[in-house]
Amino acid sequence: FIRAIVKTAENNGIDCYGFIDGYRGLLENNYVQLCTSATGNAIGILPKGGSIIGSSTNSNVFCYPVEENGETVYKDLSDKCVENIKNDGIDCLFTLGGDGTQKSARDLSLKGINVIGVPKTIDNDVACTEITFGYNTAVAVAAEALDRLHTTADTHHRIMVLEVMGRYAGWIALESAIAGGADVALIPEIPYDIKVVAKKIKENQKTGKEYTIIACAEGAISEEDSLLSKKKYKAKVASRQGRSVAYEVAEQLQELIPNEIRVALAGHIQRGGNPCSYDRFMATRFGVYGAYLLLNKDFGKLVVFDKNEIKAIPLSETAGKLKFVD
Ligand code: F6P
Repeated sequence: FIRAIVKTAENNGIDCYGFIDGYRGLLENNYVQLCTSATGNAIGILPKGGSIIGSSTNSNVFCYPVEENGETVYKDLSDKCVENIKNDGIDCLFTLGGDGTQKSARDLSLKGINVIGVPKTIDNDVACTEITFGYNTAVAVAAEALDRLHTTADTHHRIMVLEVMGRYAGWIALESAIAGGADVALIPEIPYDIKVVAKKIKENQKTGKEYTIIACAEGAISEEDSLLSKKKYKAKVASRQGRSVAYEVAEQLQELIPNEIRVALAGHIQRGGNPCSYDRFMATRFGVYGAYLLLNKDFGKLVVFDKNEIKAIPLSETAGKLKFVD
């Protein structure tokens, strides 16, 4: 995305800068110029994962953690960001990220800043766009992990549970399960009944298939837990002491079936390495379109992919919403 937008902007006589680590850099007014000259930092990055300007999670400038008297307090520091943008003479801010990033983008645009949002997350859960870039690479990695797990599952007649990312939406789990030939996908949108999973394993065994592969989203939730209040569920997750849901699924299953069960976590492996060609292609399309929005002074928008077309919708339509598997 950065390469595409910088190239298109440069072709139109516009200079680009990148705030280091995203919103944190905006708050601290820490930025670098981006350019695609022979030795420029925005050239040669097409096959690279991550971001050349870094990224920061939990950098909501409207509710920012600040240390005060040995305690962490949360403050609205967005006015400082607005001041930096104005003092730096920046005409338009591009915000690359998921739902949290775009919510802050909408709020900054309400404060008078020209903002254009771009949906970038492996979770594919930004509302109003069919695709977020990063997602397809993550699915490919998770599907390959499922392929590889088939070997031990088959040879050792085991049940393998692969946990993939997706706290609120099960896109990666569902799509990688289909692509990687898993028998079961557990996704946050459909609370699971462990007895149904055990039944599937037994059915497999009856047909002579002695192993079962389960793709489990990190936000998968049992039917019982889905009935808990938010507070009680949070306490339950905390009581796992860092052990993720896949281990709980394995323990619950072990009470119902005698087979050996193993858990594998795809974790941040899904979020790293070289992006697949589809993500490179889409990020480039998003970047070029974003630059044209800028040239047309069409601000307060999110670039989206909808019905095979790149377009823009008002940030207010997407902010604060997630796209779930329906
Ligand atoms: O939002 C993207 C995401 O990859 C989620 O799927 C995952 O829950 C989270 O980030 C992990 O964040 P961190 O890198 O902070 O552990």
